[in-house]
Amino acid sequence: MITEFSLRNLPDSDQRLDAVFQAFNDLLFVMNADGMILDYKAGNTTHLYVPPEKFLGRRMQDVLPPAVGRRIADVLSKLRAGSKVSFVEYYLPTPAGKCWYEARLVSVNNDQSIMFVRDITRYKRSEEKIKHQLNKLAALRSIDLAITSGLDLGATLAVILDHVREQLQIDAACILLFDPHTEYLEFAAGSGFNTPALQYTRLRIGEEYAGKSVSERKVFYIPNLRTRKTSFLRSPMLAEEDFRAYYAVPLFAKGQPVGVLEIFHRALLESDVDWLNFMNMLAGQAAIAIDSAMLFKNLQSANFELTMAYDKTIEGWSRAINLRDKETEEHSRRVTELTYQLAGRMGFSQPELGHICRGAVLHDIGKVAIPDNILLKPGPLNEEEWVVMRRHPLIAVELLSPIEHLVPALAIPRSHHEKWDGSGYPDHLAGEDIPLAARLFSLVDVYDALTSERPYRSAWSQTDTMKYISDQSGIHFDPAITPVFLSMFG
Ligand code: C2E
Ligand code: SIN
Ligand code: SIN
Ligand code: FE
Ligand code: FE
Repeated sequence: MITEFSLRNLPDSDQRLDAVFQAFNDLLFVMNADGMILDYKAGNTTHLYVPPEKFLGRRMQDVLPPAVGRRIADVLSKLRAGSKVSFVEYYLPTPAGKCWYEARLVSVNNDQSIMFVRDITRYKRSEEKIKHQLNKLAALRSIDLAITSGLDLGATLAVILDHVREQLQIDAACILLFDPHTEYLEFAAGSGFNTPALQYTRLRIGEEYAGKSVSERKVFYIPNLRTRKTSFLRSPMLAEEDFRAYYAVPLFAKGQPVGVLEIFHRALLESDVDWLNFMNMLAGQAAIAIDSAMLFKNLQSANFELTMAYDKTIEGWSRAINLRDKETEEHSRRVTELTYQLAGRMGFSQPELGHICRGAVLHDIGKVAIPDNILLKPGPLNEEEWVVMRRHPLIAVELLSPIEHLVPALAIPRSHHEKWDGSGYPDHLAGEDIPLAARLFSLVDVYDALTSERPYRSAWSQTDTMKYISDQSGIHFDPAITPVFLSMFG
């Protein structure tokens, strides 16, 4: 038969309380309204800040460290003001280390209160561990973001190194990148160094700990660099950094070496399993960042090749249209060259110049759809023929717009026949509504057309052409660009 355990089986209430306190390791203090300790009960007292008998006859606020004491005093004044129960959480340095307590103060009557104290250190430690874990996750997430947002490799590595230093609590760290072509490990980014000691690092695989970490595919840990005479081969300046602890963590992505993470600390390191796991996680992130940055770089050069392929195709098209128009390749090249020079003088950036040149090469591509009898007519066009001829800019847009790569280049094919005074085509734009690239290109187009033979007339002289262009400033041409264009001819 099982006898139910009950506090009531114990002879008196004091013994009951003793049993409870032995069971729970809690502490109980009886205090007067002012905090003076009148009595106490304690279970296991090994982890106490002060042996509880020393509390007797003293005020709780005075026994505990001042910061904690002030909080207890606050709670006591709340009780005096009429509240029944109040909580306070604090930590104390005890012989067993930092311990956390939760105190519950209960008002018994006007001049007495009881303070129950519970050791919540274990709970607090796991809470701190969770917070630490969350911090780590947040760090990994922000590295992820840096990788996926396409920051350049240098910026991504800087983010990673900041997290390495912060989360691992170490003084300095750097990343060496492995160049598969030269097979050298070279310094790429560093954080926390006082000297440029390591910035010129260039190691072969197998050389020094960093190189060995790659060839042997393992982490090298040197607890104290100062006890090693050969540690500073790489740079005499490294001695000035006064490092003690050192880690070389090889970085591999898809089985291939991409670099080394080096960790330096000016004191000895206490690295537990958690620390090492996180170091490995950060190293993994660094390897992914490097790998994806390399992929991106390769992608960019693939894009570059695609651009080249497009440009070859474009040149082919423009040659076809020029041949039909009885113009020479030399003319086409000259228009593009002149456009490039004029746009360069006007301060366009390199990528914009690329679009402008492609636009220039393709400006009359729409003429492929103009029948020979109009395009090659030896005399002036009639009204019907002009309707057809004036379609060539929009035909160009139709032909080119499906090619995404050429969309930024469309301003010139579409708008090269617009005029400053609004009398041009196809959109009857005027002034600065005409895209700048088209405004500057129209000068080159007319110049080149006038100085070239046409089926309907012979080439104009340079002098006549310059005079005509100058006269058309503010009518056909942007008056701000015309002088820039004319100045190119001295
Ligand atoms: P395009 O020959 O390349 O001429 C481009 C632009 O240069 C012309 O645009 C015009 O602004 C200017 N331009 C060319 N030739 C002359 C000229 O003799 N006098 C003057 N004042 N400006 C000239 P536009 O007028 O919109 O013409 C577009 C295209 O239509 C020309 O390209 C050409 O292929 C064709 N075209 C224009 N006029 C005639 C013509 O009288 N007979 C024929 N067969 N085609 C013509
Ligand atoms: C080593 O790699 O030899 C130790 C650390 C250092 O010199 O950078
Ligand atoms: C050229 O393309 O060579 C100049 C003539 C024109 O712009 O139509
Ligand atoms: Fe045209
Ligand atoms: Fe033209």
